[in-house]
Parts: sequence; structure tokens; C-alpha cells
Amino acid sequence: MLETSFFTDTDFTRYRTLVYNESGIHFTTTNRSILESRIKEQLREKHIGSVQDYYTLITNDKAELQNFLDSITTNLTRFFRNQAHFDMLQDYVVPELMKFKKDNHTIKIWSAGCSTGEEPYTIAMVLQNILPLPWHFEIIASDLSLKCLMVGKEGFYSDNQVEGIPSNYLTKYFDHVAGGYKIHKDLVSKVRFDYHNLKHDPGFRNFDVVFCRNVIIYFDEVAQVEVINRFWQAMSLKSFLFIGHSESLFGMDTQFEFVKTKWGTLYQKSV
Ligand SMILES: C[S@@+](CC[C@H](N)C(=O)[O-])C[C@H]1O[C@@H](n2cnc3c(N)ncnc32)[C@H](O)[C@@H]1O
Repeated sequence: MLETSFFTDTDFTRYRTLVYNESGIHFTTTNRSILESRIKEQLREKHIGSVQDYYTLITNDKAELQNFLDSITTNLTRFFRNQAHFDMLQDYVVPELMKFKKDNHTIKIWSAGCSTGEEPYTIAMVLQNILPLPWHFEIIASDLSLKCLMVGKEGFYSDNQVEGIPSNYLTKYFDHVAGGYKIHKDLVSKVRFDYHNLKHDPGFRNFDVVFCRNVIIYFDEVAQVEVINRFWQAMSLKSFLFIGHSESLFGMDTQFEFVKTKWGTLYQKSV
């Protein structure tokens, strides 16, 4: 990439180091232009004249830094993204947990890097559909993008966004409202949206299932191992980890076991 006077190599190094230290997100020279264009947008929005002034602002003001990190995230998501994962959840993970957790009928799930909520609500619909009483579930959905978390809390999705939801689920769990669909209140109440940066220990514990899909792909390997090991700490004795289908723990120094099922692969913690 050619150096521009607007955003010099020195600027790029300072910004990418800051982003990496604060979030684990790793900008390579190949995707430098993405970082540059996101910074340009921020300068325009905030009427700031130089990348150096903007750097001073975000390193001196926590809210501005949060807003900047939000602006550089990629939030692409959709309902039932990678359907095989939800088949595995329904037909492999839940039956396994029901055998193991005989005295405790609650299944705790963490959707880490939940974006605008499609992933945690998909999990909620699947579980609501299959769990017999007295079983119930709790979902924590976290992200570092406050904008995304607000969309998730609202539980409103446009006609385009609900494409891909099987019609029986759409009828059962959504109300058709002006301009789109709204998730039923009781399902919304089962998902708690929380700000959390995966760079830090969440303090959450005892999850039976963690979904962290299409998130660590933006991290380098050092940051990936740190996050995966934090999941290990946050998970219960027998529990399951889903990562994105283009992500892998292969060759990484972690304690998770690789599990191959007829629906696809996932990882298991068993101690
Ligand atoms: C591509 S979306 C994936 C959404 C969903 N998991 C899926 O697979 O459809 C990645 C999400 O990870 C979030 N993210 C990236 N780095 C993060 C970090 N350090 N802590 C928390 N969330 C992060 C982004 O804000 C974004 O919403």
C-alpha cells in the first residue's frame, strides 16, 4: 500500500498497535486501507483535521476510544448463520448436557461477539423450541460495539434481515410490525446484552456452551490463544465451544478437545 501524507506509515503503526492492545483486532498491511477509511469517516463526523489530533483524542478519552473501536469492527451476521451449528446444538450438545446436568436444569450460554443479536436470538429460538420443562436456559450476549448491542436489545429486524429464518420459527417467535419483525418479549427477556471486550476476563463463569463465531478471525494467534483460554476459565466442567467454520484451534496451545459429529465439528471442555 502506498503511503499517503494523510495517513503515514508511522500513523498506521501507532493506530494498529493501539487497536491491537485494546481489542486483539489485528490490522495487517493488506487491510491497512480499511483502517484508514474508518479513521477518515471518524474525522469527517467529528470535524477533526488530522489523524494525529484524533489519536490524541482517543488516547485521552475512554468514551471516544470505545466509539473508535466500535467504528473499526466488522459486524456482519445473520439469523441461522451456518445452520449446521444449530443442528448440532439441538441434536448433539443439548442431549449431551441433559445427560450430564441431571441436578441443574439450567443451560447457560454465552454468545461472545454477538453483533446485532441474530446469533443469540437464533440460539434462543432453538432452545425454546426443544427444551422440555423443568429445563430452561439463560443467554449472555456480549460485544464491544455499543451500537450493535442497542440493536440487539431492541429485537427489531427488517424484512431483509429475517430472511433465512425458517417460517415456523418466524411465526412462533416474531410479531410482524411496520417495516419488519419484532422478537417476542419473553424471548428478548432470555437474552442479556452486555458490553464486554474479549481482551479482558469477563468475570462470567459456568457456561455450558460458548459461541464465538467469526470473531477471532480478526485477531492474531497470540490474541486468539488468550481469548480461547479465557473461555476455558468461563466454562463449566463439561461444556462446548463453537467457533466460526473458517476458524480453527488447530496447532494452538489450548486444552479443548476437538469433536467431530455428523453435523460438523466443535470443541469440548471435559475435566
Ligand atoms: C463478524 S461479527 C460476528 C457476529 C456473530 N458471532 C456471527 O458469527 O454472525 C464479529 C463481532 O465481534 C465483535 N468483536 C470484535 N472484537 C471484539 C472484542 N475484542 N471484544 C468483543 N467483541 C468483539 C465485533 O464488534 C462484531 O460485532
